[in-house]
Amino acid sequence: MFSRRLRPILTLLSLVTLILACTTEEDCSLNGICSSNSTCHCGPGWIGSDCGRLDLVPAARWTGYNHTNYTDPSYLGSYGNSSWGGRIVQDREDPRLFHLLVDQFRNGCGLSGWRPTSFIARAESRNGPQGPYVWAQNTTSSFRHNADVVWSPADDKYLLWAIGADIADPTSCKSISGSQFPAVISVSSASSIRGPWTPFRVAINGTNPAPWPLYEERNKTSQITLAAEDLKIYAAPQWDGNYTRINSPVPWNTTDYSPTWTEDPFIWRDKRGNWHALAHWMIDIVEHDGRKYPRTGAHMFSRNLAEGWHFKVQEAFNSTVTFTDGAVETFNRRERSKIFFDEDLTPLYLVSGVQALNSKTSFTLVQPIGDRWHEYEKRLGF
Ligand SMILES: *[C@@H]1O[C@H](CO)[C@@H](O)[C@H](O)[C@H]1NC(C)=O
Ligand SMILES: *[C@@H]1O[C@H](CO)[C@@H](O)[C@H](O)[C@H]1NC(C)=O
Ligand SMILES: *[C@@H]1O[C@H](CO)[C@@H](O)[C@H](O)[C@H]1NC(C)=O
Ligand SMILES: *[C@@H]1O[C@H](CO)[C@@H](O)[C@H](O)[C@H]1NC(C)=O
Ligand SMILES: *[C@@H]1O[C@H](CO)[C@@H](O)[C@H](O)[C@H]1NC(C)=O
Ligand SMILES: *[C@@H]1O[C@H](CO)[C@@H](O)[C@H](O)[C@H]1NC(C)=O
Ligand SMILES: *[C@@H]1O[C@H](CO)[C@@H](O)[C@H](O)[C@H]1NC(C)=O
Ligand SMILES: *[C@@H]1O[C@H](CO)[C@@H](O)[C@H](O)[C@H]1NC(C)=O
Ligand SMILES: *[C@@H]1O[C@H](CO)[C@@H](O)[C@H](O)[C@H]1NC(C)=O
Ligand SMILES: *[C@@H]1O[C@H](CO)[C@@H](O)[C@H](O)[C@H]1NC(C)=O
Repeated sequence: MFSRRLRPILTLLSLVTLILACTTEEDCSLNGICSSNSTCHCGPGWIGSDCGRLDLVPAARWTGYNHTNYTDPSYLGSYGNSSWGGRIVQDREDPRLFHLLVDQFRNGCGLSGWRPTSFIARAESRNGPQGPYVWAQNTTSSFRHNADVVWSPADDKYLLWAIGADIADPTSCKSISGSQFPAVISVSSASSIRGPWTPFRVAINGTNPAPWPLYEERNKTSQITLAAEDLKIYAAPQWDGNYTRINSPVPWNTTDYSPTWTEDPFIWRDKRGNWHALAHWMIDIVEHDGRKYPRTGAHMFSRNLAEGWHFKVQEAFNSTVTFTDGAVETFNRRERSKIFFDEDLTPLYLVSGVQALNSKTSFTLVQPIGDRWHEYEKRLGF
C-alpha cells in the first residue's frame, strides 16, 4: 500500500488524469479521436492533450510576402509594400505555381491607414507554397480589404470576398472613419485567379468574410456558407444569392469586453464533416491593458454548422514564432490567420498578417504546420 504521505499526491494525479482524459471526440476538439485508453489521438497538424493546439514549426525568414523594405520615390509613406494576410491558392493548371491573394496598403502606407488605402494584390511564388511571393498584379484598387478567395466547384469559378467600396485613389496615408463607408461584405467571381473579376456585389452587412462552399463529391450543391466577425454564420443557395443568418448569437463569455468577442474567423469542414474555425482571440487586449500579444489564436469547433459550437478559453496558437535561423520573435500582432490545406484537408501552413513589436510595417507570414508539408513539397518537386 502507498504511504500516507504519497496518497494525496496520487489522488491529485488521478484527478489530473481524470480531467485530461477524454470520453468524446469533442474532448479532442474534433481534431482527433478519443482512443480506448481515454487519451486523444490527434490528427496531423494538431497537438496537446485535447488536440486544441496548432502544431506550428519553424518558419523560414523572407518567405511569405514580406516587402516592408521596398522603397519607391512616389510613395507617400515609409512602410514599403506592407500587407495584412492573405490566402494561398495553388494554380489549377500549373501545380508548381502558387498565388497569394493579399491585402496590401497602397503607396508605402501602413496598417494604421488600412481604411482606405488597402487594396487586393495577387502575388506569385514559383518556390513553393511558402514563398517568397512576389507582386504580380493588382486584383482591385482601393478601398478593398479583408480578402478571401475560394474555388467553387459548383460554379467552376473563383469567388473573391472582401469588405470595402470603389473610391477615388487616396492621396494620403491617413485613416478614414468607418462611417464613411458601408460596413458590408461583397463578393466577385472570375474563371481565372488572374481575373477579370465581376463587379463586387453586396452579400451581407458585416466584416471578416470567411466563405466555404458546401459542395461535396456526393452532393454537388451550389449552396455556400459565409461566416463573419463573431462567428455569425450565413448561407445562400448560391454565391450571388440571398444570404440568411443560420446560427443564433452565441455568448461565449470569454471576456467582459463583449460576450461574443472574436474577429477574423477562418472556417473549414474537415474530412469527417466536422466544422472548425480559427479566430483572432484578442484576450490579451483586455487582460493586459491594450496589449495585443501573445495569446492571439482561438480554435472553435462543431459537428453542425448552425449550432453546437464549442469555444475553449485557451490559445490555439500565439504570436511567438520560431524561425529556421534559430531566432524566436514575439510579434505585436498576429491576425487574419488562414490555413492552407493539402487536398485531403490536412493542415500544411498558417498564413497570418504580422506586425513586429515597435514597428509600423506589417507583412504576411507563412508558417508550416506539423510535418506533412515536407511530403507535400517533395511531391511537387520542391
Ligand atoms: C493510449 O493509446 C494511444 C494510441 O491509441 C497510445 O499512443 C498511447 O501511448 C496510449 N497511452 C497510454 C498511457 O497507454
Ligand atoms: C521582414 O522584413 C524586414 C525588413 O523590412 C526584416 O527586418 C525582417 O527580418 C523580415 N521578417 C521575416 C520574417 O521575413
Ligand atoms: C529587402 O530585403 C531583401 C532580402 O534580404 C533583399 O534581397 C532586398 O535587396 C532588400 N530590398 C531593399 C530595397 O533593401
Ligand atoms: C497597383 O496599385 C497601386 C496602388 O493603388 C498603384 O500605385 C499602382 O500603380 C498599381 N499598379 C498597376 C500596374 O496597376
Ligand atoms: C510593390 O507594390 C507595387 C504595387 O502597388 C508593385 O508595383 C511593386 O512591384 C511591388 N514591389 C514589391 C517589391 O513588392
Ligand atoms: C444592411 O443594413 C442596413 C441598415 O441597417 C439595411 O438597410 C440593409 O438592408 C442591410 N443590408 C443587407 C444586405 O443586409
Ligand atoms: C446537400 O448539401 C446541402 C448544403 O449542406 C444540404 O442543404 C442538402 O440537404 C444536401 N443534399 C443532400 C441530398 O444531402
Ligand atoms: C433576394 O431578396 C430580395 C429582397 O428580399 C428579393 O427581391 C429577391 O428576389 C431575392 N433574390 C433571390 C434570387 O431570391
Ligand atoms: C454566457 O453567459 C450567459 C449569461 O450568464 C449564459 O446564459 C450562457 O450560457 C453563457 N454561455 C457560455 C457559452 O458559457
Ligand atoms: C507560444 O506558443 C509556443 C508554441 O508554438 C509555446 O511553446 C509557447 O509556450 C507559447 N507562449 C506562451 C507565452 O504561451
